[in-house]
Amino acid sequence: MLGLTLLLAAVAATATATGYIDGREYVYAYKGVMYTGYPRMKPQYSGTAFENNIIIQPHGDYALIKVVNIKRTRFNDEFENVARHPFDYQDIPDGPLHKPFKVYRKNGIVTHFEVTKGEPAFSVNVKRGLIALFNLNFDEAEAAISTEDNDIQKPDPDRHYYKVYEKGVLGDCETAYVIEHHPFHKSPHNNIVLNVTKVRNYHKCNSNPNQVYGTFYGHECGRAEHEKSHTLHGNAQYKYNIRGYRHNYVIEKIYAVGEIAYTPYPLEGQTVAAKMK
Ligand SMILES: *[C@@H]1O[C@H](CO)[C@@H](O)[C@H](O)[C@H]1NC(C)=O
Repeated sequence: MLGLTLLLAAVAATATATGYIDGREYVYAYKGVMYTGYPRMKPQYSGTAFENNIIIQPHGDYALIKVVNIKRTRFNDEFENVARHPFDYQDIPDGPLHKPFKVYRKNGIVTHFEVTKGEPAFSVNVKRGLIALFNLNFDEAEAAISTEDNDIQKPDPDRHYYKVYEKGVLGDCETAYVIEHHPFHKSPHNNIVLNVTKVRNYHKCNSNPNQVYGTFYGHECGRAEHEKSHTLHGNAQYKYNIRGYRHNYVIEKIYAVGEIAYTPYPLEGQTVAAKMK
């Protein structure tokens, strides 16, 4: 069996300010590398790496977001450690990605966002991916049902572990939350912190994550069986370092890694779960 692995990896954002307050500006460093390869066959990877800054300006019920200093590089080469490779980036000239956009959130979850009229789909998708990182579902802790034993648990706003279904770029998938408190003791003030680990399981989704794009990059999947790929394995992990409380916080750092392995073509004789959005 051939396994083709798509790895989405290493997205890190660091805040340089404390407290989302209207009229202030929050600047994050945002970088990442996404690549595909053939695991255990050859250390060859192809993909793209990027680096930029994100400026967030909160205004009442929405925030204005600007992506600035966008640098990118593409590669197709052999690497010892592709995720840590020091890439040479090129500046991206002003274009749709640089256009500011408005994001509306409610209870920690993005409800909608507004881009400039006529913005191309790739730019809208990059922005959708970026803002999805900010989704934090703290409210569900109060209502969540444990899927393990079908137990209805007592509402507990301080629960440290729970599972919810959460919408992301790749679908509405089961997402487990683990909430811990590990203050950085050298900072003398504001030592109320949340260290959140979020794990999304792409095997448990209300919409199938891997049928949006087919084997041929950038083409939307047809309904034909031979165009559908099979997920062998897929999950994503996010770590958040947050200062504040569950309903009043500033995200200081987000770190995300994801991995999806799939066969490019259906396996012989296997029934395909044909769920299309
Ligand atoms: C937990 O989050 C706080 C606030 O961002 C951070 O200072 C601290 O280093 C984090 N601790 C760990 C173990 O990640």
